[in-house]
Amino acid sequence: MRHLMNPLDFSVEELDKLFELAMDIEKNPEKYADKCAGKKIATCFYEASTRTRLSFEAAMINLGGSVIGFSDANSSSASKGESVSDTIRVISCFADICAMRHPKEGAAMVAASKSSIPVINAGDGGHQHPTQTLTDLLTIRSLKGRLNHFTIGLCGDLKFGRTVHSLINALSRYEDIHFIFISPEELRVPDYITEMLTEKGIPYEEVIKLEDIIDRLDLLYMTRVQRERFFNEEDYVRLKDFYILDKKKMEAAKEDMLILHPLPRVNEISVEVDDDPRAVYFKQVQYGVYVRMALILTLLELV
Ligand code: CP
Repeated sequence: MRHLMNPLDFSVEELDKLFELAMDIEKNPEKYADKCAGKKIATCFYEASTRTRLSFEAAMINLGGSVIGFSDANSSSASKGESVSDTIRVISCFADICAMRHPKEGAAMVAASKSSIPVINAGDGGHQHPTQTLTDLLTIRSLKGRLNHFTIGLCGDLKFGRTVHSLINALSRYEDIHFIFISPEELRVPDYITEMLTEKGIPYEEVIKLEDIIDRLDLLYMTRVQRERFFNEEDYVRLKDFYILDKKKMEAAKEDMLILHPLPRVNEISVEVDDDPRAVYFKQVQYGVYVRMALILTLLELV
């Protein structure tokens, strides 16, 4: 039995197979409509979500399966003090697979260690968000035709942004990736990530102003400032509008640069950019359903 905690849990070859499957699902959805008949996914979300929870649920329904779960820790017995370990043992009696989001780093890993069904980490604190990364990689692969030879800018809250941490890990395995980290000093990417890049000999730069480097980027990954992970509101208010991507800034970008964003967006991308053909963050959401369908089939060994 396999779980997914981190995008690195799958080899590059396994990811390729997963993306091929996701692309086949996109082209031939009817082929997969009954693959999970009789199966259930439990979506156990101890933290807010729109995309991740609903795309897991849509994915399972598209595969002919059913959904159980909770969308708020307060409506589960966590509010009475039940541990994640006990909860997953209970969920294992009800469902065939579980997607779990939790505000604490490592919670999904604890669940996986006690589970008798596959557990998917749907985001654990500021740590990892592997299925967002699968979504990001599938989007890039589908729209650019490759996952190598890119200069990618990651912009915003690189300290708390778990999608950023997972994506850097995942992209560091592909050839000729040059990272440019764009953040205020207080929200720099954690040292353990830059140390990993240095060890692997992968080039990266850290800059503060997006305008200084936007013309060099093939991909721009925007992120919001993660209010829920700040210790005080004053710091959040000071930093929340540090970056606002607008039409004016986009004038300097390459004609084929893609703008990605895991969403939700707050102010960091002006709505006037949404009609720019380079803005693919809503397409990204659709790819998230295909890749989660492929992941469910793979973890349930139905392919
Ligand atoms: N991208 C993402 O994780 O969005 P949600 O928080 O809405 O699930």
